[in-house]
Amino acid sequence: MKRHEFLRELHKVVGNRNYLEIGVNDGRSLRLARVPSIAVDPAFKVTSEIRCDVQLVKATSDEFFARPDPLAHLRGGRNPWHNLRRGRHPLGRWHRTTLDLSFIDGMHLFEYALRDFVNVERHSDWASVVVFDDMLPRSVDEAARDRHTTAWTGDVYKLIEILDRHRPDLVTVLVDTRPTGQLLVFGADPRNEVLRESYDDVVAEFLVPDPQKVPEAVLDRVRAVPPEALLEAGFWRPLAHARNRGLPRSRGWAPLRDALRRLTAGC
Ligand SMILES: C[S@@+](CC[C@H](N)C(=O)[O-])C[C@H]1O[C@@H](n2cnc3c(N)ncnc32)[C@H](O)[C@@H]1O
Repeated sequence: MKRHEFLRELHKVVGNRNYLEIGVNDGRSLRLARVPSIAVDPAFKVTSEIRCDVQLVKATSDEFFARPDPLAHLRGGRNPWHNLRRGRHPLGRWHRTTLDLSFIDGMHLFEYALRDFVNVERHSDWASVVVFDDMLPRSVDEAARDRHTTAWTGDVYKLIEILDRHRPDLVTVLVDTRPTGQLLVFGADPRNEVLRESYDDVVAEFLVPDPQKVPEAVLDRVRAVPPEALLEAGFWRPLAHARNRGLPRSRGWAPLRDALRRLTAGC
């Protein structure tokens, strides 16, 4: 299954109420969204027809997340006093907007993707789904930090090991999509500071000059699940139900985590 086919189906099974995209380019992934969305890219050149209420942000993802209220658009751009006028607490829904589905496909260097995840996670929770693109390079050339191929993944595949090592509380699922695979992350915890605190050490450890030593397991797609198996899994409907009802992590996460582990056990 090709990456955009998988993403199209993913939007359906996640049943997300909002969407964040980092890295838009010509809009071929953004055109799959049907819900209020924010899409960030310093150099987008959208040529696809877009069929959602989207704020297109012309900035880098770091600049976007540094804004005082980056997700305002997902609340219809309302300020807190809107709630007060409607008889609700002013900080009620304004205080925190949770991202249901995020797609990280901006700069293809691992330290950028790591910062994107840290920032996305601050606005996510256990029921959110975060997707990274281009996590399974097919060659060392494709994985180079200094781009010299047409198709380019860069070294974002390093996020697989970084998350496994530093955030064993998350569940990561590698997906065998064409051409270069994707990674889904479940169980986000906005209060977890581990990645933020260890960022400098992680970058110092993983930042090495080309050629990159891409693990054989990555090149051979050892842990990757077939996209069809993931899309057909039974946990999507309960996950959407739990998220929409605002079920707390203490009640919703364990069954989802166990279902995900069963899915990935054979890979
Ligand atoms: C691979 S393309 C995105 C493709 C798109 N998501 C799709 O699937 O059709 C990567 C995009 O990331 C953008 N980009 C590069 N650096 C970025 C950054 N720091 N923040 C956000 N986007 C960035 C580039 O301008 C480029 O358009």
